[in-house]
Amino acid sequence: MGRPSAPRPPATPDLKTGHDLMSVLPMTAQVKDGHLWIGGVDMVDLAAEAGTAVYVMDEATIRHQLSEYVKWTTYHWKDVDVVYAGKAFMSLAMLKIVADEGCCLDVSSGGELAFARRAGFPMDRIYVHGNNKTPVELTECLDAKVGRIVVDSFEEMDRLSALASERGINQKVLLRVTPGVEADTHDFIMTGAEDSKFGFGRNQGLAMAAVKRAIELPGLDFDGLHMHIGSQIFALNSFSKAIEVIVEFIAEIKAETGVGVGMLDTGGGLGIAYGIPDEPSTIKDYGKVVVDGIKAECEKHGLTVPRMAVEPGRSIVANAGVTLYTVGSIKEIPNIRTYVAVDGGMSDNIRTSLYDAHYEAMIANKADRPREMVATVAGKHCESGDIVVNDAPLQCPDVGDILCVCATGAYCQSMSSNYNKQVRPGVVFVVDGGWRWAVRRETYDDLMKCELG
Ligand SMILES: Cc1ncc(COP(=O)(O)O)c(C=O)c1O
Repeated sequence: MGRPSAPRPPATPDLKTGHDLMSVLPMTAQVKDGHLWIGGVDMVDLAAEAGTAVYVMDEATIRHQLSEYVKWTTYHWKDVDVVYAGKAFMSLAMLKIVADEGCCLDVSSGGELAFARRAGFPMDRIYVHGNNKTPVELTECLDAKVGRIVVDSFEEMDRLSALASERGINQKVLLRVTPGVEADTHDFIMTGAEDSKFGFGRNQGLAMAAVKRAIELPGLDFDGLHMHIGSQIFALNSFSKAIEVIVEFIAEIKAETGVGVGMLDTGGGLGIAYGIPDEPSTIKDYGKVVVDGIKAECEKHGLTVPRMAVEPGRSIVANAGVTLYTVGSIKEIPNIRTYVAVDGGMSDNIRTSLYDAHYEAMIANKADRPREMVATVAGKHCESGDIVVNDAPLQCPDVGDILCVCATGAYCQSMSSNYNKQVRPGVVFVVDGGWRWAVRRETYDDLMKCELG
């Protein structure tokens, strides 16, 4: 889901205002009357009405990103599934949007499948992931009649075959292959060892053995291959390299077994702008590199072009979201740093402590002022590593200000916790000048709902 960011230069005040943060904010963001607005809603008013901490998601940005993927993949090839990776952010409201935009859904647990079922998501558009799906989860998938299960191990394949045979089902499966190409943010790395808990390594012959077994086993309909080479990828040549390797493998499968591959799923991973200097590739360029890349490689090997799938998560929702907090205290440690403490922290955004992730922040009620100081935005948890933003250029803060952390739409709410028995923030969707709760804020009763006393 992420990797430590590249080392960043020491932060200095950048004198940029909220106007200059548009590349990391939702597409509807504006600075008006000194305040930050998203989706036609004043974030300062929203914070007053909804309370903080709160996640805010811009529906227009989510729909735009999904439709860009559909547009720029199917522009190059008629049969491409855009499979939203639900792990990035999942709620019933989100799933309704994904279904509405004609996309498929990647679920990675029984819980995510349960959300999809509750949302009425079409089950034939579900792709099931996970490196250790339990027998119960596999049964739930078969009973729900999911579209495809991405098989990750020999044990799982045998289990699934037995369960599907018992039910008289022929379940479509993809096999997750580790192509030995790992994406670096700016390039790719060839990894001969394929040291990964995910999938079947190609170099050791495991992937070919898995394909042969999947073809033979009853109850399984071998549909094709899946790979996922990393996340927050800026260099499109990483995808090209992996496609070259996996299509070569498809040619080997054809040569050794005579069986064609009906589908190739190249996973997710497109990077997004977390910081002002970040310049990720566009979805348009990504679509061309991936889809045209597969077509070209298939042509090279004389193969029929398969149906394709891409699985974006972060690039759909990250920039659609922000988190609003209230500044509770400001601690200036002379000659060292200033800590600005907010009413949330590692429980609603673990990425900074986990991956050393970097974010831009601004004071939503001073959005048109320059960010003339550098401060560390700290959470309220009992960990000194509980930092939300390290060295953030910021407008001079006051207690009670509304602090907005940008680009928190992916892997924040979905990785949130109740550490320190903190209630999780709710999620608000904004659209066309209005807002609604998509997920309400937790209560203390919610914290105790599983306690048996
Ligand atoms: C199998 C798979 N597909 C898709 C994704 C989504 O990746 P991203 O959010 O980087 O687009 C992930 C993320 O880890 C993944 O593991």
